[in-house]
Amino acid sequence: MKVIVTGGAGFIGSAVVRHIIEQTNDEVLVIDKLTYAGNLESLDSVSENKRYHFKQIDICDRKELNVVMAGFCPDVIMHLAAESHVDRSIDNPSTFIETNIIGTYTLLEASLAYWKTLDATKQSIFRFHHISTDEVYGDLHGTSDLFTEKTPYSPSSPYSASKASSDHLVRAWHRTFGLPTIITNCSNNYGPYHFPEKLIPLMILNALEGKPLPVYGNGQQIRDWLYVEDHARALYLVATKAKVGETYNIGGHNEQKNIDVVNIICELLEELIPNKPDGVKCYKDLITYVTDRPGHDQRYAIDASKIYQDLGWKPQETFQTGMRKTVEWYLQNKQWCDHIKDGSYARSRQGII
Ligand SMILES: NC(=O)c1ccc[n+]([C@@H]2O[C@H](COP(=O)([O-])OP(=O)(O)OC[C@H]3O[C@@H](n4cnc5c(N)ncnc54)[C@H](O)[C@@H]3O)[C@@H](O)[C@H]2O)c1
Repeated sequence: MKVIVTGGAGFIGSAVVRHIIEQTNDEVLVIDKLTYAGNLESLDSVSENKRYHFKQIDICDRKELNVVMAGFCPDVIMHLAAESHVDRSIDNPSTFIETNIIGTYTLLEASLAYWKTLDATKQSIFRFHHISTDEVYGDLHGTSDLFTEKTPYSPSSPYSASKASSDHLVRAWHRTFGLPTIITNCSNNYGPYHFPEKLIPLMILNALEGKPLPVYGNGQQIRDWLYVEDHARALYLVATKAKVGETYNIGGHNEQKNIDVVNIICELLEELIPNKPDGVKCYKDLITYVTDRPGHDQRYAIDASKIYQDLGWKPQETFQTGMRKTVEWYLQNKQWCDHIKDGSYARSRQGII
C-alpha cells in the first residue's frame, strides 16, 4: 500500500510513520508544513529507508496537494496535521481555524478530486482516515460516564471546536460526495518524541533542571492516557481494516488525575535520577499550583469497546509500563530535547546550521 501521512513530523504522526516503516511493507509519504511542532529528528530512525518520503507542504495549499497526490497515487491518506495545543488555541485561535478547518477542507477537496480519477477497484480500496480527539465531546462531570461514538459533540476550547468542525466536514464529504472516510477520536497520548510544552515531557524536563512543576488549578482534572505506540497500532488497523463511514473511539482505560501523573513522574525520577539538581531535596517539592486554564475540561474518559469488538485492538502498555518507558526515553534522548530547547531542530531544516 501507499500511505500519505499528513503531520508525520509531529508527535503521533511520527509514531505512525515509524510503525508503518518498521512493521509493514508499505510506502509512506509524509506531508508536513514543519511548524514549531514538526521535527524531522523524530523520523531519523526511518529517514534512510527507501519506502519513506517527505514533502514540506501546507495542507491549505491545494495546488501542492494536487501535484503530490497525482505523483504518489496513495491508497490511504492518514490525516494528522493539525494545530494541537489547547493553550496556544486560547492565545491565538486563528492558526487553529486555518489548519484544522480550512486545511482539512482543502485536503478533503484535493482527496475527492484525486479519488474521482481512480478506477472502480482503486476507488473501493481508497480510505481517507481523519485522526481526531475525544475533546470534541466536551467534558464529563460524573465519575463513571464514558464517551462513546454516539456522545453528542460539545467542544470547550478553540482547539476542540476546530477539531469538531473538521470531523463534521469529513462526515459531510462522505455522505454528500461519497469519499470513503473513517474517523477516530482518541484520548490523551503520551510517550517518546512528545513536544516539551505538553504536560508529561514538561514535568520531566523541568524536574531534571530543578524548575517549578506548574499544575493547573487543583490538579484534579482527569485524563484517559494512551501510550502513543498503542495509538499508532490502532490507527494503522483502522486505516486498513475498518469499514467506510465508521467512527472509532480509542482510549487507554487509564484515567489519571493530573496531579497523580505529576507525582508518578516525580517518583520515577527519584528512583532513576536520585542525584537531584542543587537545592532540590525531593522532586515533589517542585510542584507549584498555577491559575487554571480558562474553560478547562474536568474529565475525559473513553469507551473503547467498539474498536476492541470490531477490530480486536486493545492497548499493550499499562500506565505504569508506559510511563517508565517514557521517562527513560527522555533521560536517554537529551539531544532531541536540547535541539528543541535551543531551536536548532527548526534552524537546521531552513539550512541555517
Ligand atoms: N496529542 C494527543 O494527545 C492527541 C490526542 C488525540 C488526538 N490528537 C490528534 O492527533 C493529531 C496529531 O496530534 P499530535 O499530538 O501529533 O500533534 P503535533 O502538534 O505534535 O503535530 C502536528 C503536526 O502537524 C504539522 N502541521 C501543522 N500545521 C500544518 C499544516 N497547515 N500543514 C501541514 N502540516 C501541518 C506540524 O508541523 C506537526 O508536525 C492531531 O490532529 C490531534 O488533534 C492528538
